Amino acid sequence: MDFAQQLKAQIDIARVAGDYVRLRRFGNRYSGLCPFHNEKTPSFSIYTDHQFFKCFGCDAKGDVFNFVMMIEGLTFWEALKKLADQHGIAMPKQSLAGDEETRLRAALYEMHEIAADHFRANLAGANGAPVRDYVAKRGVTTPVMQQFGLGLSDRTGRRLQSILEQRGFKPEQLEASGLVGRREDGSFYDRFRNRLMFPIQNESGKIIAFGGRALDPEEKAKYLNSPETKIYKKSHVLYNLNRARETSMKIDRIVLVEGYMDTIGASQAGVTEVVATCGTALTVEQIRAMKRHSLNLFLNFDPDSAGVNAAERSIKLLLDENVRVRIVELEGGLDPDEYCKEHGPDAYRNRITAAKTYFYWLADRARARFNMREPQGRVDAFQFLLPSIQDLNDKLERVAVANDLASYLGVESGLVLEHFRKAAANRNERAPVIKTDPARMSDRILLPLLVSSPEARTELVEGLRHAPALRQLTTVAIYDTIIAMHDAGEPIDFNTVHDRLTPALQGRFAAIVLDSSPASIEDGQACVAALKREDKETIRRELKARIRTAEREGRMAEAMDLAGELSRL
Ligand code: UTP
Ligand code: MN
Repeated sequence: MDFAQQLKAQIDIARVAGDYVRLRRFGNRYSGLCPFHNEKTPSFSIYTDHQFFKCFGCDAKGDVFNFVMMIEGLTFWEALKKLADQHGIAMPKQSLAGDEETRLRAALYEMHEIAADHFRANLAGANGAPVRDYVAKRGVTTPVMQQFGLGLSDRTGRRLQSILEQRGFKPEQLEASGLVGRREDGSFYDRFRNRLMFPIQNESGKIIAFGGRALDPEEKAKYLNSPETKIYKKSHVLYNLNRARETSMKIDRIVLVEGYMDTIGASQAGVTEVVATCGTALTVEQIRAMKRHSLNLFLNFDPDSAGVNAAERSIKLLLDENVRVRIVELEGGLDPDEYCKEHGPDAYRNRITAAKTYFYWLADRARARFNMREPQGRVDAFQFLLPSIQDLNDKLERVAVANDLASYLGVESGLVLEHFRKAAANRNERAPVIKTDPARMSDRILLPLLVSSPEARTELVEGLRHAPALRQLTTVAIYDTIIAMHDAGEPIDFNTVHDRLTPALQGRFAAIVLDSSPASIEDGQACVAALKREDKETIRRELKARIRTAEREGRMAEAMDLAGELSRL
């Protein structure tokens, strides 16, 4: 057994996936909303017996390594290493190095770790005193500063670069890290200079990038962020998700803010389930990352016009992803960080608790935007709101909101309800067709038995080999695969068989095996006997036909032979 197999035998895919997806247990199956596509009803399942996950909606599937690779965007080696570390299992020496891609990424992680240490040391050192004052003045306590790993980049332009060079990193690695820039003449310089540094971590807490706030008021760019690299894909990352996810899962809500300082301010105020987009427009990937922890999103963007527009765009995207959106409103035009500082943690937490569903906020936006004194203005306002209201999942809620909306905007309620009826009709047209599984009873009994029980294989394989009727089944290639693996003495379980099949058969195989409860070997034997009986009848029918043809064509000797064969059957 290779290391990957050994490791797999020691970990439970449901425990691993449970860190990323809310799962409900049904016997030996867990179910939840698929993290790999957008859906309202769960079609994502984990089968503990087979240590396999499968989504019947988007066909994402595989073992625990596939899951971690897909959800974290890792290579196989990284997934292996991560799971081994997580479970306190040592990797064997020869597998530590990994492939080239993994080695480069490992170098990038290491460089970021070194950079973060260096920035932290700067901030803690003598030159850091004025910046520590600045951070303190902004209300951040020392423990929180440390918790977020804040640092300070050097005033001079090549300090970090030379540290990294001394540590043996090559020019192409330096360049790939995004921590240094390259001049026309080929020389390097530090990307971040004289900035307050915020390490950006991926969901498992590895530092993958930095954001840097200018300390010099003359500096043009207030914030500078790392470029995209092999380990940093901006559109997939949320600042602080690594810390927020625990609370977020526990209390089933997540707060989304815009900035680094907002995140730190909110977190210090006790709202630890806070994440930030940090200078990018909210993306579907970011929404899915949040959704895995909670569907209850509290949007707390800045009250300036950029923030409001960003909120409006984000709401549409969030509703498309079936997230329940509430809007946190802070009076006085303050951003979350300023609000926490000015009004204190309790006041901020109260504002969050008091957040109302996005609809009221949008309605206010509509009232401000359109001329509500004119009938046409009210209808326009209503049209503006309609797409978001239509996205409400719950029918009763839709009707309630429709009525609210009508009176709030002064629109005739008949008009509102008419629109909703139309929307509902469109919805029904889009309802998915449920596919029925054409699997035969014998497949439902035999295949799960064959993959899960060595005794069953010993008992059944010979019989199957001599059952020509098996050839007539559309699933014959699955049986052949299992029999071939059995003959070769290869390890057989759901995964190993699944890996050998064509994509089309993989789907059938999963549909047949994953959800069926195990039958007894006796049931299996009865199935094989039935298949053989079917064989005999087929052969008998064929023989009779051949006898008749031979008689008709006057080949009497042949007819006699065949009749003898028939009677022997
Ligand atoms: P803000 O301009 O609202 O800054 O940008 P802030 O977070 O309130 O920062 P302070 O309080 O002045 O220190 C919100 C977020 O947008 C990104 C950063 O992530 C910032 O935290 N941003 C902003 C940039 O990426 N680049 C910029 O030039 C400005
Ligand atoms: Mn701010």
